Amino acid sequence: METPDMKPDDPAAEPKPCACQGGAVPPEAEKSTRRELMLKVGIGLNVVAGAMIGLPLIGYALSSFVQKMPLAWITLGALEKFPVGTTRLASYPNPNSRPWDGDTAMIPCWVRHFEENGEQRFQVFAINCAHLGCPVRWFEESQLFLCPCHGGAYYADGSYAAGPPPRGLYEYEYKVENNELLIKGGVLPTLADTNV
Ligand code: FES
Repeated sequence: METPDMKPDDPAAEPKPCACQGGAVPPEAEKSTRRELMLKVGIGLNVVAGAMIGLPLIGYALSSFVQKMPLAWITLGALEKFPVGTTRLASYPNPNSRPWDGDTAMIPCWVRHFEENGEQRFQVFAINCAHLGCPVRWFEESQLFLCPCHGGAYYADGSYAAGPPPRGLYEYEYKVENNELLIKGGVLPTLADTNV
């Protein structure tokens, strides 16, 4: 039964719409939805951060099981290219190179051929300075390897002479076979596997 001050088409008299009917969401429900969204975003960010920290650690842990880059005996050419008493520049193709590496696949090195106690011997030096890796140059006149970057100097046998390098030049393992000079290439020599 209608009261006299209540009209049937008065909007104030109509019931409020509920969310299930596409109406306004009550503030409490809205708060809870926002909290859930923030929680999901938080979990997602934690997963990403965990992956960023964890994956390199897993990679490092598994690296010892992965096969190392192969070392290979690589020819530097016939012995005639390196007369006794000379130090000459040579280069060899990196055995781990890819077809698209182009000229960068060729790795330069210095070859010293000398005589000691009546025996002919070689030394093959990495071209990189033992300080920060700049390519060193051989100077016949002064019988020194000089580094253009910070003035590092090495004697003819690759030993340290002056400047910032902490040690002598790195050396490759070598052997002579079928009148050719071969070195073990694949990685640049370091403190871990150098002869010096
Ligand atoms: Fe050769 Fe520094 S890189 S002296």
